[in-house]
Amino acid sequence: MTTGAAERLVIRGGAPLKGRVTVSGSKNAALYALAAALLTAEPVVLRNVPEIADIGEMAEVLRDLGARVAIDGTTVSIEACELTKTFADAERVAALRASFLVMGPLLGRLGEAACPPPGGDVIGSRPLDVHFAGFRGLGAEVTREGPAYVARSPKLKGARIFFDYPSVLGTVNVIFAATLAEGVTTIINAAAEPEVEMACDLLNAMGARVRNGGNNTVTVEGVAELHGADFTVIPDRIEAGTYLLAGVATGGDVEVVGAVPEHLDSLVAKFREMSVRVDPFEGGMRVRPDGPLQAVQMQAVPYPGFATDLHAPFAAALTQAHGVSIIHERVYDNRMNYVAELRLMGARLTNAGQSVMIEGPAPLVGTPVRAHDVRAGAAVVLAALCADGETVIRDIGHIDRGYADLDVRLRALGADVSRR
Ligand code: EPU
Repeated sequence: MTTGAAERLVIRGGAPLKGRVTVSGSKNAALYALAAALLTAEPVVLRNVPEIADIGEMAEVLRDLGARVAIDGTTVSIEACELTKTFADAERVAALRASFLVMGPLLGRLGEAACPPPGGDVIGSRPLDVHFAGFRGLGAEVTREGPAYVARSPKLKGARIFFDYPSVLGTVNVIFAATLAEGVTTIINAAAEPEVEMACDLLNAMGARVRNGGNNTVTVEGVAELHGADFTVIPDRIEAGTYLLAGVATGGDVEVVGAVPEHLDSLVAKFREMSVRVDPFEGGMRVRPDGPLQAVQMQAVPYPGFATDLHAPFAAALTQAHGVSIIHERVYDNRMNYVAELRLMGARLTNAGQSVMIEGPAPLVGTPVRAHDVRAGAAVVLAALCADGETVIRDIGHIDRGYADLDVRLRALGADVSRR
């Protein structure tokens, strides 16, 4: 869905959310799956793809390279039988971070790939050194030519590769390239997020030989070619976590269909410390109060640690907890875009460096605020649901990038939310 530039989200808060909501397919995993389709000349059909702007943007990046992409609701079909270019278009790539994932497939399949630095949320320095170290490890030459990074290798060769940091996109990009390399690649210190695991499952469904060995090690045995697949994207654990947190923040009783308990261990552990009752049911999870909400400490780290993408909505929920909470962000150096907005609403937040201290419970009041990035946007939405009076949120295009039909889903939980 695209959002009009002047559109605002208007929320009248103060009531506990109650009811059941179903989450979409994972935004990030779906983006990886679209890029994976470039590895084969055969059609790849993806189901349960979220209906969000980023998918349309990624489709444009692939179309520009010569792939045919058809979007029909939550089903996306990609056919990359004739790729006409090995360089991605700068303007399209600037729209989203995941666009850099065209590098691995193009390099693996065609021996050459070029892509300008990708866009994405401004949440800290977002280097690409892990991607390049991986491509070089496979024998590619990586250079900067004008505006683009270029990787070349007539035939990639499997290797043992160590990552300085378990970068999510870096891991996926290097796995993509390694699927068509000669011999075996072992990645040490690879990212272990469920979205990475899903990308490996899709590749295996396409004929690749990828093994997630646990311990942050991934082994890829190169094959001559990949084939098509029909594949269903996993539910979005960040969207699920956000709706669970909306229930918790408002002291409500919320069931989230698509919340996979094994993907949300770190959040569930914090819920228990906060006196939130968590009950898994077939296909989802329910949260409701188990006493007054308690303050906690949390560190955002790579999976299976607490997800950095839930840091901001979690902070919003903690404004309603009794006591002093502390969050330490260890993934990004600029995740605090939400702090000033929540303060405008009356939250008592103090941040220094990578840490935020939250004193609660703080009565929040409806105020005009901004969504600075997708997750900072989710945080102001949660704060607005707890606030007295009307909150008007600007720049909601950021929110719509990650949350399909957020207003519709929140209304299903009884929230007073509209677009104006
Ligand atoms: N990093 C490096 N070197 C690299 C790449 C990353 O040092 O070559 C560092 C970064 O500086 C950062 C950390 O690694 O401190 C995390 O970056 P990572 O590469 O893991 O993130 P990403 O792959 O660019 C994806 C998601 C993000 C999510 C992170 C972490 C997509 C499109 N983006 O980004 O999602 O926060 O993994 O889980 O999949 C979001 O959905 O809101 C979002 C920002």
